[in-house]
Amino acid sequence: MEEAFIINGGKKLKGQIYLAGSKNAATKMMAASLLTDEEVVLENFPRIGDTEITGELCRSIGSKIKLQGSRLSIKTTSIRNHQVLSLSRKNRIPILTLGPLLSRYGKAEVPVLGGDKIGPRPVNLHIDALTSMGAKIETTESSYKAVAPNGLKGARISFPFPSVGATENAILAGVLARGRTIIYNAATEPEIMDLIKLLQKMGAIIELGANRVIYIDGVKKLHGAVHSVLPDRNEAVSWACLALATNGRVLVEDARQEHLITFLNAVRRIGGEYEVTRKGIIFWQDGDLNGIELETDTHPGFMTDWQQPFVALLTQARGVSVLHETIYEDRLSYIQDLNLLGANIKVFSKCLGELPCRFNGMGCYHSAIISGPQQLKGSRINVRDLRAGMLNIIAALIAKGESTISGVEEIDRGYENIDTRLKSLGADIKRKKIKI
Ligand code: EPU
Repeated sequence: MEEAFIINGGKKLKGQIYLAGSKNAATKMMAASLLTDEEVVLENFPRIGDTEITGELCRSIGSKIKLQGSRLSIKTTSIRNHQVLSLSRKNRIPILTLGPLLSRYGKAEVPVLGGDKIGPRPVNLHIDALTSMGAKIETTESSYKAVAPNGLKGARISFPFPSVGATENAILAGVLARGRTIIYNAATEPEIMDLIKLLQKMGAIIELGANRVIYIDGVKKLHGAVHSVLPDRNEAVSWACLALATNGRVLVEDARQEHLITFLNAVRRIGGEYEVTRKGIIFWQDGDLNGIELETDTHPGFMTDWQQPFVALLTQARGVSVLHETIYEDRLSYIQDLNLLGANIKVFSKCLGELPCRFNGMGCYHSAIISGPQQLKGSRINVRDLRAGMLNIIAALIAKGESTISGVEEIDRGYENIDTRLKSLGADIKRKKIKI
């Protein structure tokens, strides 16, 4: 038996919805809390599968965790265990514990993270950064074994690509390292800025230079802090696409304009409407939607996690839309599912866009042409990954008739109480155990 969502489409979603704290900030902040023996308190903390998995990981290292409502307290008085192998492959956070464990314990062993459904997702940039900081890392079939016999030391790290995770890893390792760390071509996503804010409160010295350069002056010790996790901009985009795709009207409470500039432009370009208010941003559709040319990019570009919900929306736009995914080489396989529901989308291995792309000539299907509008019809779909799961929900809510979405654990990993919140907007959705 497994849990599935049964959705009857065709309802306009209307009302207002809260945003949970960001998954991709909260989980990194839990890793950051391992840098101190004092208590770190995270407010606006999301209660989702991914933070549960990360909690398990921190407990296995020695953290004491209390969760009351959306307030998490985490304290790691001592490192009890530096090997986190048991949590192999459940999420991408174990690799980020290397810096904290090396700083506090001098040794660490974390699982090799498998490729997943959106591409191979290597960690070579993480390993190179930590190695240049004095870590000696042995890669086995199942784990990375790291030691730093002389402690970590500051280094100049230049990333060929501004990887989010590798930037976070270098920051987490740099804050307690001896001397100065300079990260060139760093990722600058809002979640990274929020992680930096927490680390500053904990006593770190981190400066942001022009042109994606981050300077870190290592300190001897960090202390506890209280921090409110920024609202999840990926959730904000999902709710906005739901409102627009179902021709409804939704106020996304606490959605921050500064985190969504590129997305808001795309909404306006296709003919959607929004209003930025004190409470949040209201989204609705004003007349027919039009096609668009869309390319995903690192921040502040159009985020890769936004393209799936947006493509669901584009199936309802008049004319042709062109998508070029430049972050992950294999993030379009969900299109087969959308086509099964009645969408008209073709995928291409050539770059259908202008941005320099690492996948040019590699033969991976990372571009698509979407023709619309198409009436979608209900069907049975299995969730491939978290963001594709949200696309499945949006598609089922637009579709005529009933859809069964299985594998909803993937969606629960990133979206708090998703079915209850959808119901509050008028969606016809039920969570049910089904036979597989
Ligand atoms: N890359 C390398 N080598 C590395 C690291 C990354 O080649 O050592 C490549 C990846 O293969 C990928 C690209 O760089 O093609 C981007 O990877 P990045 O490291 O920037 O992403 P990440 O840290 O693994 C985070 C989010 C993703 C989000 C991306 C891009 C978390 C836990 N994950 O992944 O979110 O799509 O940044 O913004 O923060 C999600 O929330 O569902 C999700 C997948």
